[in-house]
Amino acid sequence: MTELEQKIYDQFISKYDHKPLLVNSPGRVNLIGDHTDYNDGFVLPAAIDKVIVLGMAKNKLEKIRAFSADMNESVVMDLNDLHKSDKNWANYIKGVVAELQKEKFKLKGFDVVFGGNIPIGAGLSSSAALEGALTVGLDKIFKLGLDRKKMARIGQLTEHNHVGVNCGIMDQFINLHGEADKALKLDCRTLDYELYPFHQEGIKIVLCNSKVSHNLADSEYNVRRSQCEEGVEILKQYDPQIRNLRDVSMELLVEHKSEFDPVVFRRCKFVLEENDRVLKACEDLSKEDLRSFGQHMFESHEGLSKEYEVSCEELDILVELAKEQEGLLGCRMMGGGFGGCTINLVEETKVASFIEYISKKYKERTGIEAEIYVTQINGGAHIIES
Ligand code: GLA
Repeated sequence: MTELEQKIYDQFISKYDHKPLLVNSPGRVNLIGDHTDYNDGFVLPAAIDKVIVLGMAKNKLEKIRAFSADMNESVVMDLNDLHKSDKNWANYIKGVVAELQKEKFKLKGFDVVFGGNIPIGAGLSSSAALEGALTVGLDKIFKLGLDRKKMARIGQLTEHNHVGVNCGIMDQFINLHGEADKALKLDCRTLDYELYPFHQEGIKIVLCNSKVSHNLADSEYNVRRSQCEEGVEILKQYDPQIRNLRDVSMELLVEHKSEFDPVVFRRCKFVLEENDRVLKACEDLSKEDLRSFGQHMFESHEGLSKEYEVSCEELDILVELAKEQEGLLGCRMMGGGFGGCTINLVEETKVASFIEYISKKYKERTGIEAEIYVTQINGGAHIIES
């Protein structure tokens, strides 16, 4: 057991006086392909070595008793009368349980303790990690027979119906399907996926946390989603087969440019380009051409910042500073945006000087101490066999 697993195990026993099942559930990076998932497009995420560990066991009550080790907070919920909690983390538990109940899965009372090292609000999907851990744990202790795609949907519905973020499926999917040293190309329409060995020999994935977490993020996220839908409504008139931006070609979009609000046009154009970049980046991986892969990352950041407008000053500064450094293959903002992390591919021999430079210059320019993590690609959520 890792230290974290041992800690959660011990805390569970001391709080609830029985032994838990343990689940280890990772955060994620996205190498390329942002704001494409809810347009039925492609993404290329990977699960990482920052995780949540969750302990869970049935109790004999019709209640959920839960403890967040990191917040040092407890809640008790009535299984048959779930309410929104004033504690943000508790709403994920409520959401997963409510979504399972909606689908007629029979749950009984249970106890849960969780904690971890995925920084919250850093765009590394700590919430998907919690949803995944809960679903994997509940599936096991109540023998629900869920497959992993279904589990990912339960997590996504939790976000939609209990957290208020109309997210795509990327974060929940990679949390449950990630494999060590592999990036996962997901077709968000069919949920078919392909694993690409991500050769990191001599290359490190370095995450620079801007430490900015804009509270605009959720509402702006939903606005972007509606803008994409607005574009689809226009183009549907010309081709009734079009269900969303996945079905739209650049030719068709450009042909009807004059009918678009300029902002909506830019949003749609970005999504088509970003989708195309994911496919090209996957070809690069097949050819083990990380230089070309990195170029697509730079282009992705440009588009996210200028056309989709989900970056922010601090993220742009992190990218600008990274580009001043030797040994950088590619970098971009990552995830929903408006804060969180940039992802950087850096030659191993240059990692130390890269970190030193970014930390110093970022502090000078913004007054903020960045947090920088060198991360590794690991497997998806799993039960820790005792
Ligand atoms: C958030 C959402 C994902 C995805 C990304 C942007 O992480 O949860 O579904 O849309 O933003 O790519």
